[in-house]
Formats: sequence, structure tokens, C-alpha cells
Amino acid sequence: MNTRQLILGATVLLASGTLSLRAAEPAELRKKALEVVAPIPERMPGAEKDTPAQIALGKRLFFEKKLSQNGTQSCNSCHAVDKGRGGVDNQPTSPGAFGKRGGRNSPTVLNAGFHTAQFWDGRAEDLAAQAKGPILNPIEMAMPDQNEVLARLGADKRYVRDFAKAFPGEAKPVTYDNLAKAIAAFERTLITRDRFDDFLKGQDVALTELERKGLHEFLSVGCTTCHNGPLVGGNGFRKIGILEPYSNATDKGRIEVTKDEADEFVFKVPSLRNIALTGPYFHDGKHAELASAVREMAQLQLGQKLSDDQVKVIVAFLNAMSDKGRKAPKTASSGAAGAGQP
Ligand code: HEC
Ligand code: HEC
Repeated sequence: MNTRQLILGATVLLASGTLSLRAAEPAELRKKALEVVAPIPERMPGAEKDTPAQIALGKRLFFEKKLSQNGTQSCNSCHAVDKGRGGVDNQPTSPGAFGKRGGRNSPTVLNAGFHTAQFWDGRAEDLAAQAKGPILNPIEMAMPDQNEVLARLGADKRYVRDFAKAFPGEAKPVTYDNLAKAIAAFERTLITRDRFDDFLKGQDVALTELERKGLHEFLSVGCTTCHNGPLVGGNGFRKIGILEPYSNATDKGRIEVTKDEADEFVFKVPSLRNIALTGPYFHDGKHAELASAVREMAQLQLGQKLSDDQVKVIVAFLNAMSDKGRKAPKTASSGAAGAGQP
């Protein structure tokens, strides 16, 4: 936090004494919040076994365009984590190596290793299982098979050396499993830190008055029945369109994974950490604005029509959950420019 924010926060705190909105009183609000959410843990599950050599290799692989058939795409093309980006491409759906788009929006890789499962429908159990998919997916990186991937890496002396360092003692370290393990090790370092956590840990001025009002609304309206835990989501599956159906019924969600009828239109409850950085919103990327996503959620999931003021403060609060070192691109199209697309 810089001096300006501190002064701003302190001024707001003084001013808040005169306000009637008691629930925005920091200590009380913090207590209420901590019943349903928590600061992001220091480490991701499994990270204790990751070595610096594995993380370094995984990072290089994450940015490696050789992992796509025509050399145009890396993981970072759709999940940009460099230059202060939010782990996404900020497009509704992502063009793959040959320009074809899948039906789903790219979720952020930031904090993803904390989720109970990966993908909108949870079909991969963890980061390593997930990482094996996109490289061979014909509309993503479109490599023909694992052997072709390993042949390309095996022809690169630096990769041969780095795999050997990352997986010491293995006779043939350049394997598809090890590639996935290394990428997962790198992804486990992608933990974000935001002002909401500073507030939860006791720093009253970390949130402005407006943001505290937003937190209060977020808690009272009922968003935390689903978006809860340290990631404010990412820990369960729920239907989209509980009280009113969602407008786009093309994607049936988790039913494709479980074949259980109860899972029709069920998706992973997304984490709302960094949500201001990761638009457009929902599994189909149909909502460009965070305000419109919030309004839609209240209506579909809680049967509530929020006032403009409620939406405004909730959006202000959601903005306080952005990683301190990152920011959203100015417009979705300027965001796409850095995504390394052909
Ligand atoms: C062409 C764009 C594209 C590329 C390239 C790509 N991804 Fe993705 N990624 C997506 C999309 C779209 C989804 C969501 C798909 C779904 O849920 O069915 C996704 C989902 C994920 C998730 C799950 C996150 C969550 O919240 O569930 C992770 C982690 C991830 N990708 C990592 C990677 C890694 C690692 C690579 C490189 C090996 C990669 N992606 C390459 C588009 C891409
Ligand atoms: C009954 C559970 C439930 C409730 C209550 C709920 N949500 Fe959601 N939320 C979800 C699910 C599930 C999704 C994913 C929907 C999809 O894309 O198919 C989601 C998606 C979102 C998204 C888009 C996330 C992204 O990455 O695109 C935002 C923003 C959001 N919710 C905010 C809220 C807010 C604010 C409230 C309270 C007004 C709220 N939600 C209430 C379950 C819920």
C-alpha cells in the first residue's frame, strides 16, 4: 500500500464515524466476513514437494510456443501471466493455434491450484492432469500426439538438461508426465495477494468505505452461499440459473462429466479473486462488464434485483480482490493484442 492509499484510507476511516452504516464498521465486518471467507494460504497444496528446478522448467514450458503444432501458441497465449496480466486473454472465448475457438472462456491460472478441481466442469482432478489436455487439444495447441511433443523437446539440448535437473535420477526424464508435473509446479507459484486479505488480517484501512459497503452487501445479499472459502469460490459446483434459467443453454456443464441429470447446467463456482482482471464473464464469456455479471448473478441465483448502488459497491469490493501487482488491460481488445495470437 502506498502513502496515498494510506491517507485515503485514514480519511475514509475518520469520515466513517459519521456514517450510519454500522455494518461497514471494520472490526464487525471483518468478523462477519471471516465466518465464510479466509485469507489465501501461503502455499498451494502439493507445493512442498516442488523443487526450484521443476518450477524453472515449468515456467519455460508455460511460455513455450513449440508446444503448439504451428509454433504460435503457448499456455501463456490464453492465460497471460506476464506483464501484470490476470492469467487470462480477456476474450469471450479463445482462438487456438489455427484460429478456431472453443465454446468456453479461458479461466485464470492464478490461484488455480487451490481449486477442488480444474476446468469449468471440474473434469481434471488437478493441475498436472489439466496440463496434459490443451497441448493435444485440436482446437487449442493441436499437437498430433505425445511423441511429437517429446521429440521436439528432446531435440532441444537445454530442455534435455533442464528435465534431467528437474527429475534427477530418472533414466529418461523427458516424459509427458514430467512435462505436466513441471508446469503444475510453476502454476503452484501463481498465488496472488490483495487488499481484501490485508483487511481480513486486521488492516482496517486496506479497504475504502465504499469497498467495505460492498463487502457488507456481498455478505448480506447471499453471494457467499456459493462464493466462499479462501478463494471466494473455486471449492464446489453449482447450477447457473437456479431461480431463472441462464440465457445460453448450449453448454450443459458438468452433466457431460458425471452423466448425472442433477448436474445439468452445473459449473464450478468460480473464484472471485482477481475477478476485475479476468473478464469477460461466465463459462461462455457472454458478459463483458463485471457490473452486468453481478446483476445477472443476483437475479439468476438469488432471485434479487439489485439497485444500481448495490451493484456499484459490490463491484468496488470485487476490485479490492485484484493482485496488487496486476491490472486489467484498458479494453478487452487491447488485452487481446498481447495474447500472441496469429
Ligand atoms: C487456446 C487457448 C488455451 C491454451 C493455449 C491453453 N488454455 Fe488453459 N484453458 C483454456 C480454456 C478455454 C479453459 C477452460 C476450458 C473448460 O473449462 O472446458 C482452460 C482451462 C485451464 C485451466 C483450469 C483453470 C480453472 O479455473 O479451472 C488451467 C489450470 C489451464 N487452462 C492451464 C493451461 C496450461 C498449463 C496450458 C498450456 C499447457 C493451457 N492452459 C493452454 C484455454 C487455453
Ligand atoms: C447458488 C450459487 C451462487 C450464488 C448465490 C452466486 N453465485 Fe456467482 N457464480 C456461481 C456459479 C456456478 C458461477 C459460474 C457460472 C457459469 O459461468 O456458468 C458464478 C459466476 C459468477 C461470476 C463470474 C465469474 C467468472 O469468472 O466469469 C461472478 C462475477 C459472480 N458469480 C458473482 C456473484 C455475486 C456478486 C453474487 C451475489 C450477488 C453471486 N455471484 C452469487 C454461483 C453462485
